[in-house]
Amino acid sequence: MSKQGAIGVFDSGYGGLTVLKEIVESLPQYDYLYLGDNARAPYGTRSFTTVYEYTLQCVKWFFQQGCPLVILACNTASAKALRTIQQNDLVKIDSSKRVLGVIRPTTEIAGSISKTNHIGILGTNGTVQSNSYPMEISKFYPSAKVYQEACPMWVPLIENNEYNLPGADYFVKKHIDHLLAQSNEIDTILLACTHYPLLMDKIKEHVPPGINVVSQGEIVAKSLVEYLQRHPEIDQKLSKNAQISFFTTDSAEDFDSHASAFYGKSVKSTHLAL
Ligand code: DGL
Repeated sequence: MSKQGAIGVFDSGYGGLTVLKEIVESLPQYDYLYLGDNARAPYGTRSFTTVYEYTLQCVKWFFQQGCPLVILACNTASAKALRTIQQNDLVKIDSSKRVLGVIRPTTEIAGSISKTNHIGILGTNGTVQSNSYPMEISKFYPSAKVYQEACPMWVPLIENNEYNLPGADYFVKKHIDHLLAQSNEIDTILLACTHYPLLMDKIKEHVPPGINVVSQGEIVAKSLVEYLQRHPEIDQKLSKNAQISFFTTDSAEDFDSHASAFYGKSVKSTHLAL
């Protein structure tokens, strides 16, 4: 089946499905190709070089399938690989292709959500260590104060289907308490990992009232709609047959059994050997 013209959506595993779901809701007429690099997930604990190499390999695969545009629906890949791919690799591979991430759209609006100008970030080790959120937010909102907390146990809890069980409360509360201990003026918490929306109910239980908890799916979808309006030269390369194909670098059966919790409906994936 030709994927010529599909929008590529990439994550280390399942998390990007929370973003794809919102994108498809906003732009249902487009074709999509989703790839989860489940065999090598999680990315959050890996080095810059490793995340960059894995992400670049997957981006090249999307290009080989004919995707003119790829969204890195993974904060860790956006933090550690996007800039190098945009600045160094695209010119060598094909400068007509585009790769976008999830950090820029989120940081662009972060300061408009917070009234106190004190913003909390919850993400993987990799995203937090990269400092991408504080750096990007300061470009758009120079006076904003940004506080970060890495939550290394959250992705494993989610991937192992433990996120709804009582054991998850300990780790959810622990990291929220650490984040909020940094400032009592934080009024906005950004879930800077595409897996974390699955923990939303538990997160809200442990966050005091009056603090806004924001996930990225809708923000990224809205930003993509605006991007395609501003870039008709990209939009016209995109096919619009409302087809979605799912690929995983690990077991397709495992992917299909986990994916619906992230995507909201069942999916049928194909195994990809990279
Ligand atoms: N979903 C990825 C993100 O948004 C992280 C998962 C992982 O550690 O692989 O950062």
